[in-house]
Amino acid sequence: MAQQTLRPALLERLPSMAVGVLREIGALGDERGCHVYVVGGVVRDLLLGQVTLDLDLAVEGDGIAFAKAVADRYRTGLAVFERFVTARLVFPDGLKMDIATTRREFYAEAALLPTVQPAAIEEDLHRRDFTINAIAMQLNPGQFGRLLDVYGGQRDLRARRIRVLHAGSFQDDPTRIFRAIRFEQRFKFRLEPGTLRLLRQAASTNLIQQLSGPRLQNEILVLFAERDPVRAITRLAKLKLLRFLHRRLCASGTVMRVVRAVPQALAWWGSRSPDAVIDRSLVYLMALLSESSPVVIAGISKRLACSREQATKLSAGGKRLDRILKKLTDRETLRPSQVYRLLVDLPDEVLVLLVAKQVSRHQAAQLRQFKRYLMAYEETRTIATVLKGRDLQTMGLKPGPQYGAILGKLLDARIDGVVTSEEGERVFVQKRLSVLGHYL
Ligand code: CTP
Repeated sequence: MAQQTLRPALLERLPSMAVGVLREIGALGDERGCHVYVVGGVVRDLLLGQVTLDLDLAVEGDGIAFAKAVADRYRTGLAVFERFVTARLVFPDGLKMDIATTRREFYAEAALLPTVQPAAIEEDLHRRDFTINAIAMQLNPGQFGRLLDVYGGQRDLRARRIRVLHAGSFQDDPTRIFRAIRFEQRFKFRLEPGTLRLLRQAASTNLIQQLSGPRLQNEILVLFAERDPVRAITRLAKLKLLRFLHRRLCASGTVMRVVRAVPQALAWWGSRSPDAVIDRSLVYLMALLSESSPVVIAGISKRLACSREQATKLSAGGKRLDRILKKLTDRETLRPSQVYRLLVDLPDEVLVLLVAKQVSRHQAAQLRQFKRYLMAYEETRTIATVLKGRDLQTMGLKPGPQYGAILGKLLDARIDGVVTSEEGERVFVQKRLSVLGHYL
């Protein structure tokens, strides 16, 4: 039975500025003769006692015209997505709001984006992914805070379960397979048995293969951006979903040990370089690929339609890192310049992965040595030679490949503290030049 209680106090939990805006938007709804609702994640989170500032609004009527009127009144930025009859508003203080026309959706083909048609709010709620995300609250004056829970969302929130609204839900939109895991792990809920059966069924077909690269990438990275991606990855593996990234990808014991070591590695990295910007989700993906070959990694980059930057980072990881790690944990002591040469081409995310790999091996002495090397490397990263190519030219060296070689050796000498001044650099270069016999 639909519950339609008035719960304005629930909306009052939002920051007062947002509550003010929502009340005014409700009044605008009355002025324009349409019902306006806040829907989805915001309502779910409010019912769970949490506050989200990404507001999704649904309008029974022309949502885009309504969004334009709101944008005019508040002088917000506005982006319109005609195909999905949705508009996004960004308020000057950062509040984000999506306004959409309430609609029904048709999936002409599974896994593709749907076509949409205006419909009443009840139908709009019915097309959604899970009951807990299909609760609306009305904003019109007099009805402000009216809770519209047609499909038992509150009951499922109380029972802590994720439930689809109809049997074709995963077929319509296979991204919901990943969303189910995301909400299940985030809230520590359980998949309702019928939903789990439908999910397994959908996962046993090739539906996910039909998802476009960007959509699959988005689901994976959003999942790995959750607070505890380790649980999510374990769940993906258990439900045999990793094969959709690559048929040869498997969460072996070694891989899962690296994945489980990522939080510790990130924490260590963060404590040493608090300002460093690390793509956390990508580190988790890299950990999952830590035993993979370059071919498998390239296949996954392609499947996920990774950007050039993401692909470069991913390809620097994988099984091949073991060689570097071995050198950094061997008994033999390395010079700072040798450490520098081993690490210099690696993005920070890969350095974090190296830490995770080493943490996962539970070899305390080697881990200490490795961390010392990393800290030393951090200090050498900014070292540069005073002399540049043009100085070598002035000193009489013909332009050519020797430039790189000599400047490389010079940098090593600087890093190792063999050379400490510009004068020292000149002497160093001159010695090399005379050995090479390249003076004019
Ligand atoms: N939705 C859906 N099916 C999808 C994606 C979204 O039905 N594949 C609906 C759900 O009602 C969801 C709402 O659109 O609540 C907004 O989507 P989104 O912002 O992605 O999700 P949130 O529920 O807000 O989740 P989060 O807290 O992770 O932002």
